[in-house]
Amino acid sequence: MPAAAVLGWPLEHTRSPALHQAAYRAAGLEGWRYLARPTRPEELAAVLEEVRAGELAGVNLTTPHKRAVVPLLDELEPPSGELGAVNTVWRAGGAAAAAPARLVGGNTDVDGALWALERQLGLGGAGWSGQGPALLLGSGGVALAAALAWARLTEARGRHGLATGPLTVAGRSPDRAAAVAAQAGPGATTIGWDRAAAAVGEAEVLIQATTLTATGGSVPGQDRLRRGVRVLELNYGPAAQGLVRAARRAGAAAAADGLGMLCAQAAAAVTLIAGIQADVTAMAAAVGLELPRHPVGRVAPA
Ligand SMILES: NC(=O)c1ccc[n+]([C@@H]2O[C@H](COP(=O)([O-])OP(=O)(O)OC[C@H]3O[C@@H](n4cnc5c(N)ncnc54)[C@H](OP(=O)(O)O)[C@@H]3O)[C@@H](O)[C@H]2O)c1
Repeated sequence: MPAAAVLGWPLEHTRSPALHQAAYRAAGLEGWRYLARPTRPEELAAVLEEVRAGELAGVNLTTPHKRAVVPLLDELEPPSGELGAVNTVWRAGGAAAAAPARLVGGNTDVDGALWALERQLGLGGAGWSGQGPALLLGSGGVALAAALAWARLTEARGRHGLATGPLTVAGRSPDRAAAVAAQAGPGATTIGWDRAAAAVGEAEVLIQATTLTATGGSVPGQDRLRRGVRVLELNYGPAAQGLVRAARRAGAAAAADGLGMLCAQAAAAVTLIAGIQADVTAMAAAVGLELPRHPVGRVAPA
């Protein structure tokens, strides 16, 4: 009976089983199971051997395994190289491939962030002008994924003749912010954290990728958001709603927390591990997020 799992240490509350099992149910995958498997760093290599042997169809990785897993894999698929981190491992040739299978690593966070920008902020089509200041707060792992998603958004819009303005990255570390901006597509620049409050007040698109708001904190300039702003807060959970609420109070055109990105990156991971189209709407419903009945379907892997 095929099984997949999320590995982390400590692995406390995780929504991955609810998300993946909802996708299996929606696709009619009989007998598939998805487990939460607390895995110490020293146990990681042994669990990967279970994937190689076909005892597990694939795994998702969370803290502290995302970087540590890289040298244990046979192949890396983009954009895991650019991110320096892997969140999904699957068997080359699929779940039913002969053992021992080669282990492939990928990262679906960029798929998830792009989905949120397009579908939740409405940046995918002509409904957004592409003009106006776009600001990314933070320079950690999820900020890098958001920057790569911005570059993909810019390319996708360009294919339809739609312009996209450059992204500005604000972070505490100038070096890390520059590294993030380098992945964010044409014209991306950085500003120091001391200028973040003013930039938040001017932003037409704001992507919040720091841990500042995760436990109830606010970002500089949050009380000066402009009317019509589009805000993507990448944290999620009850404590992380302050910025979304502030955006709605300010008359935002769109405001979403990170639960949608979480669902969309999980949908892309389901595709990589189980080889099926994942129903994002059904997955979202399993974690209490209501999405319009469309879009349903595959979030294309990178
Ligand atoms: N929605 C999703 O699917 C999803 C996926 C992954 C992560 N997340 C969430 O996104 C958040 C960021 O994750 P991550 O992996 O990127 O974490 P990370 O790599 O640790 O990065 C955290 C970022 O927050 C910044 N920061 C922390 N405290 C700050 C402060 N007081 N002032 C200014 N900047 C501050 C850090 O700046 P320095 O580098 O200067 O310390 C860094 O840029 C987490 O809360 C995580 O739960 C959501």
